[in-house]
Amino acid sequence: MQGLDLQNLKQDASAEIEAAQTQNELDSVYKKYLDKEGLLGEFFKSLGSLTKKERAQAGVKANEIKQAIFGLYEKKAAELKEKTQTKSAGKSWLDVTLPGVWPKVGHLHPFTLVDRKIAEIFSGMGFEIVESREIENEWYNFDALNIPQEHPARDVYDTLFLGDGTLLRPHTSPGQIRYMENHEPPLRIIVPGRVFRHDAVDASHMPNFYQVEGLMVDRTISVANFKAVIDEFFLQFFSDSETNVEKRKTVKGSNASSENIRLRPSFFPFTEPSFEVDLKCVNCRGLGCSVCKGTGWMEIMGAGMVHPNVLKNAGVDPTIWQGFAFGMGMDRLAMVKYKINDIRLFYGGNQRFLDQF
Ligand code: PHE
Repeated sequence: MQGLDLQNLKQDASAEIEAAQTQNELDSVYKKYLDKEGLLGEFFKSLGSLTKKERAQAGVKANEIKQAIFGLYEKKAAELKEKTQTKSAGKSWLDVTLPGVWPKVGHLHPFTLVDRKIAEIFSGMGFEIVESREIENEWYNFDALNIPQEHPARDVYDTLFLGDGTLLRPHTSPGQIRYMENHEPPLRIIVPGRVFRHDAVDASHMPNFYQVEGLMVDRTISVANFKAVIDEFFLQFFSDSETNVEKRKTVKGSNASSENIRLRPSFFPFTEPSFEVDLKCVNCRGLGCSVCKGTGWMEIMGAGMVHPNVLKNAGVDPTIWQGFAFGMGMDRLAMVKYKINDIRLFYGGNQRFLDQF
């Protein structure tokens, strides 16, 4: 073994290291030269038969060569590692087992859901959906609705004037006049939209809220028609929610009125007679609870038979035509339907609240 030409060995080893294309190939070069059983290992073993002096010389020399080869080996290994890494990074690949990225999908606001449901139900009963304007003048907002200049009823609606005789509408009733001016009876409309009042903000009031006006005019329309229409409306409106609105009761083959609503005498200048419509408390079914403040009923809308003066003001002959009108709060309906006890939540834009709908 002493005859081993260390210089040649070094050259061979470096050539083979240089030629290695993969870590595997490099490993076999390592085995061949640097392992205990490799060429250098055998060389060290053979040193035992030399004299002390010779052994020291050959040992130092062989160690130098070993270090040099090992250095080359390490350098090459690093090169190969870098090469495989950049190679796989450049390739595009797909891990089908990774969970997907869900795009955030938007959804409709509860008011939009309620608005659409109302439109759907009334369309089904032959009502046309009409839009009116949010900025009104005194004629349509007051005078035409039989509210004269000094009448105390103006106080409730006397709100948010814009300076030039116009105001933000405090109710959707002016929509009745505007529609009747341009349309001949018989007619059936609802006017959903935004209204404004000088109300202070609390759990059930906002200065901006939503109403739905209803108007039906024909030759023989009576309060009975109103009751039937509104009864049907509530039945359908709450049919898909977990409220206690009683289901339709069939009496002798007809769709008899359920006991969900009651009418109470009231006053509006634009209707005569006028009434408030109460809905049997959807929480306790009329027994009395905290939602209905123990009464068993919930105030839900104002209504009445359209006042002859209103028909006249809109160009409709009250000796031939008569009808009913109603106005209900959409916010209120949404609160009842979804069991929300604070109106402000609808206007807050809180994602966690809105994501429930
Ligand atoms: N406009 C009335 C209000 O906002 C509601 C109403 C409409 C009453 C139609 C009767 C008839 O209070």
